[in-house]
Amino acid sequence: MTEQKIRWGITGTARIARDGFLPALRAAGGGAAYAVGGRDPERTRHFAAENGVQHVLESYRAVCEDPDVDAVYVPTPNGVHAEITIMALEAGKAVLCEKPLCGNVDQTANVLKVAHRSVRPLWEAFVFPFHDQTRQILDLLANGAIGTLMQIDSSFHFHPESRNDVRYRPELAGGPTQDVGCYAIRLSRLLMSSEPEMALSKAVWAPEGVDEEMNGILGFPGNRYMVFSWSMRMPGQSFTRLLGTGGEIRLTNPYHARTTDTIEVIVGEDTQTILAGSAEPTFAPCIRHIHAALRGEEEPRHLAVDEAMGNAVAIEMVFESARRAET
Ligand SMILES: NC(=O)c1ccc[n+]([C@@H]2O[C@H](COP(=O)([O-])OP(=O)(O)OC[C@H]3O[C@@H](n4cnc5c(N)ncnc54)[C@H](OP(=O)(O)O)[C@@H]3O)[C@@H](O)[C@H]2O)c1
Repeated sequence: MTEQKIRWGITGTARIARDGFLPALRAAGGGAAYAVGGRDPERTRHFAAENGVQHVLESYRAVCEDPDVDAVYVPTPNGVHAEITIMALEAGKAVLCEKPLCGNVDQTANVLKVAHRSVRPLWEAFVFPFHDQTRQILDLLANGAIGTLMQIDSSFHFHPESRNDVRYRPELAGGPTQDVGCYAIRLSRLLMSSEPEMALSKAVWAPEGVDEEMNGILGFPGNRYMVFSWSMRMPGQSFTRLLGTGGEIRLTNPYHARTTDTIEVIVGEDTQTILAGSAEPTFAPCIRHIHAALRGEEEPRHLAVDEAMGNAVAIEMVFESARRAET
């Protein structure tokens, strides 16, 4: 790909496209919001006008198959990721698909099979692995700042905007395990440098059929654990503690850190506080990397083919355990 801007196509008029992806695309530089396609022409036109997207297309397929689109951003609900991502990959586009990549292991396997033989890469939109904060946490752990990491305490809570939110729709793979638990699983797999071996979990189910809260543990090799609470019933926060044999690290927001968010390293009586968030939109480092990778300036990192299946398997383990707990 040449020096010209990477032209992005967007499938749907999602909030996260408006509030997360597009401000970051503007901040990252090197790319353009070329086209958006949606299910409703009027809504799509309005979205394009409000957000500076150059072209309005009539469908997701039209975005995926437009010869002028280089990369497709897929911000549809979780249960609608697989079909569009496959469509875009098969049309020869690079793809940034929202997390979780798919709603289950079978869909994930289908998508990754296509991604393996595709000409352009696929990323699952976990942006925190590209953040400076994550590099600092990995450095602290590698340098033995808290000894050996033994346990991660992950809480990730939020209130959906309304009962009509896609997160209450089981057929769209809603619920907090898919929506935010996936972050904690991705983080723990990264920090533990291994895949979980077991899950023990208990769900609170919403009348709509999705989990409304999930509590439990994920076990990693070496008797190390993530203890988790993911919920749509409590106010928004993603406070996380990393407990080591020699101390602990407290993170106010491991996934989308702002300038006021902190890494606290606590060893005995000593507390070191690091401001590790950034003023730029949190998607920007990931988008910048994708642009550089598509131009051949950086080796692609954190690709879905390498990292997505472990998350899908762990999510399924959590659900299986929660269902077993009820029989
Ligand atoms: N990485 C992150 O930080 C982050 C943060 C928040 C959300 N997300 C992810 O982003 C995705 C979208 O979340 P959101 O909160 O932005 O959702 P949202 O505002 O409800 O938007 C979803 C969009 O998908 C399209 N869509 C296609 N099929 C649909 C269906 N059956 N029902 C409803 N909408 C449908 C709609 O666009 P049209 O009708 O215009 O086609 C809709 O605007 C999810 O996968 C979520 O997990 C990621």
